Amino acid sequence: MLAVEVSSPGGPEVLKIVERPRPEPGPKEVVIEVHAAGVNRPDCAQRQGTYPPPPGASDILGLEVSGRIVAIGKEVKRWKVGDFICALVNGGGYAEYVAVPEGQCLPIPDDMDLVQAAALPETFFTVWTNVFESAGLKNGESILIHGGSGGIGTTAIQLAHAFGAKVFTTVGKEESVAQCKELGANVVIEYKKEDFVTVIKDQTAGKGVDVILDMVGGEYFRRNLTCLSLKGRLVQIATIQGAAVELDLRVMMAKRLTLMGSTLRPRSSEEKTKIADSLLQRVWPLLNDGRLQPVIYKTFPLSQVKEAHELMESSAHTGKIVLLVKK
Ligand SMILES: NC(=O)c1ccc[n+]([C@@H]2O[C@H](COP(=O)([O-])OP(=O)(O)OC[C@H]3O[C@@H](n4cnc5c(N)ncnc54)[C@H](OP(=O)(O)O)[C@@H]3O)[C@@H](O)[C@H]2O)c1
Repeated sequence: MLAVEVSSPGGPEVLKIVERPRPEPGPKEVVIEVHAAGVNRPDCAQRQGTYPPPPGASDILGLEVSGRIVAIGKEVKRWKVGDFICALVNGGGYAEYVAVPEGQCLPIPDDMDLVQAAALPETFFTVWTNVFESAGLKNGESILIHGGSGGIGTTAIQLAHAFGAKVFTTVGKEESVAQCKELGANVVIEYKKEDFVTVIKDQTAGKGVDVILDMVGGEYFRRNLTCLSLKGRLVQIATIQGAAVELDLRVMMAKRLTLMGSTLRPRSSEEKTKIADSLLQRVWPLLNDGRLQPVIYKTFPLSQVKEAHELMESSAHTGKIVLLVKK
């Protein structure tokens, strides 16, 4: 089969399309003939050598796919050969075939095509487990979502809005403002033109927001704490601007804050299956009736994977970038 390999850590030019053996299913795995694969920022980090795959995971890039099941392991109960699904894979998504534990697969939502479905798993699993399961965002609360224009951001805005939260988001480019509002953001802050701390204080009458979803870190950390309300929760999912930060413990104590963070990829298949089951029950009905939809910015054939990574790293996109794998 054809697959995308990182020839050596570096820029998008190190991505090479190579021949690899087709995977066989383990006892609890299915093999998917990949139709499309989502591109995610962590793929760029893996390519650069700063986010190595966890032990046992494929070295081939790609964390999410859609496609048709072509083989199943002996103990597989949920799926059969021929089913069309989307899946959170542990690696190996940028390839014609990938093996994945059955519990990490979900049905294609009604009226959704395979390209849209390939754009769901990574951001929906990440946002659901961090914002709703860990930070416990509730109906009537408020949330500040940084990176609102990205794949994670566009999913987080829609989910938070759908579950009744007031949504604040930050974006770097003017073109993203209207789209984030359409997705459900109440207030969109252009962080290059406005100070997000000032806007949050003004808009909340000094109270602050209940939850912040942050992937920036660095100097955002101190400013995020300023924006949190009493009993606010900060959930950190990446550190684009730096991981080492200074914490004034008195701020945490005075506001009774909860600081948390997580990475999805190293979690066990059992944990990922639990998230999938919760998504199926709570979120898939909203995808089935069209209330939530992935935002697809651009698709590329697998042969243009280099261009897809260049686009992601330019941050010119709003929403998701998807690779078309099946010819
Ligand atoms: N912890 C986890 O389990 C997990 C899982 C998936 C993803 N992630 C992380 O979540 C982040 C978003 O992933 P994604 O796939 O949604 O990527 P993405 O589509 O590229 O979105 C990231 C957005 O962040 C903004 N951004 C980039 N550099 C920035 C900076 N220096 N300061 C402020 N904003 C900046 C950009 O929007 P603007 O140009 O509008 O600023 C960009 O569109 C990544 O850092 C990724 O590693 C974490």
